[in-house]
Amino acid sequence: MLACAAWTAGWVLAAALLLRAHPGVLSARCTDERSRRILAALCRDYRGGVLVGELCEDLCVAGTLQYRRCLYSERGKKVLQADWRGRPVVLKSKEEAFSSFQPLGLLEAEAEGDGDQELPEAELLLLLAGEVRNALGLELANGSLGPLWPAGRWGRRRRGQLASLWALVQQEEFVLFSLLQGLSRHALPVLGSCGHFYAVEYLAAGSPQHRALFPLDQAAGTPRGGRGQAKAVSDMALSFLDLVRHFDHDFSHRLHLCDVKPENFAIRSDLTVVAIDVDMAFFEPKMRELLEQNCTGDEDCNFFDCFSKCDLRVNRCGAERANSNLQVICDKIFRHWFSSAPRSPGISFLLQRRLREAVLECADPGVPAGSTQGATPSVFRKLQRLLQATLRELQAAEK
Ligand SMILES: Nc1ncnc2c1ncn2[C@@H]1O[C@H](COP(=O)(O)OP(=O)(O)O)[C@@H](O)[C@H]1O
Ligand SMILES: [Mg+2]
Repeated sequence: MLACAAWTAGWVLAAALLLRAHPGVLSARCTDERSRRILAALCRDYRGGVLVGELCEDLCVAGTLQYRRCLYSERGKKVLQADWRGRPVVLKSKEEAFSSFQPLGLLEAEAEGDGDQELPEAELLLLLAGEVRNALGLELANGSLGPLWPAGRWGRRRRGQLASLWALVQQEEFVLFSLLQGLSRHALPVLGSCGHFYAVEYLAAGSPQHRALFPLDQAAGTPRGGRGQAKAVSDMALSFLDLVRHFDHDFSHRLHLCDVKPENFAIRSDLTVVAIDVDMAFFEPKMRELLEQNCTGDEDCNFFDCFSKCDLRVNRCGAERANSNLQVICDKIFRHWFSSAPRSPGISFLLQRRLREAVLECADPGVPAGSTQGATPSVFRKLQRLLQATLRELQAAEK
């Protein structure tokens, strides 16, 4: 009896551990069978001319884009790993089925009328600009829509092309990644698409399960042992600071990250940090729209990791975000690295203490100074100096 109970408990524990490590694995939706079925339906639609994309031929005909495994599947969203001509990639879509996306209404009308009545290019561009406005809250001039526009080549399969473009532009993340293409080394470039699925680079994604939050085994030149890990952590932290500076200042509007957790970032082999999930990243105008809600207290003005204050005179949340990307990254990422980790070899006690204090000040700037501002430029520079000093100490300890 006791043995039986112990045996059952053992299995329950093993299953719980497996689920914790790979939440997608046992989810009924994240199975190979289901993923293959979804891709088979995609290819059927491709052969039927319903959808197109640069990657369809490789996926559906040549076999040079091959499914590997399901990484994630929740609320319709699919994240699949695949090999594309020998390189690991990720295929993503917000919905499993192509038909789940709103069709372009005018296209239907076009099909019903006589076939020669095509929508003029200018009208399509206008519609596309509207979709981008919906997705990102940005008013973009026609000239800036280039990354989304199939370079004026509508070819034979114009209908499929338009339908595919429409399914893609309903995915905010696709729109944002496409517009940041070539403008940011901290965002994923889009490698191509087929129907409603778009491909991005497969990178080493973060997870709270890793000691250093990110898997360091694939990172080039990370020596094993405590010092190697300490150096890698400092490099990644400096890259996070660069990402913060870049998203705060390098675009026409500040880009706010409202879902900061290790799983939503990845590292390249040179330890550059990349945002891999930007569903909750908003440019300033959209951020203001999202924050400005009715409220009876500050707690009504929290939008995931982005907060503002409740103005009790008018019971409206302020449109201005009260915290910052830096503050949230200090709180959700740096604190794990520098405030709770045991002492690192090769870094002086004094430096470790100053770094710990700077991270706490950054994560919660209101505590010592009573300030209501998000983390300030001075704490940014302080962190940068301390991390660079850490790298110098580690380098000296190597000798
Ligand atoms: N480019 C990528 N490389 C490696 N893993 C990825 C990549 N994109 C997503 N993933 C994995 O899939 C998970 C879910 O993807 P994500 O875009 O974060 O979905 P959601 O928006 O539902 O959180 C991520 O946490 C990560 O583990
Ligand atoms: Mg995510």
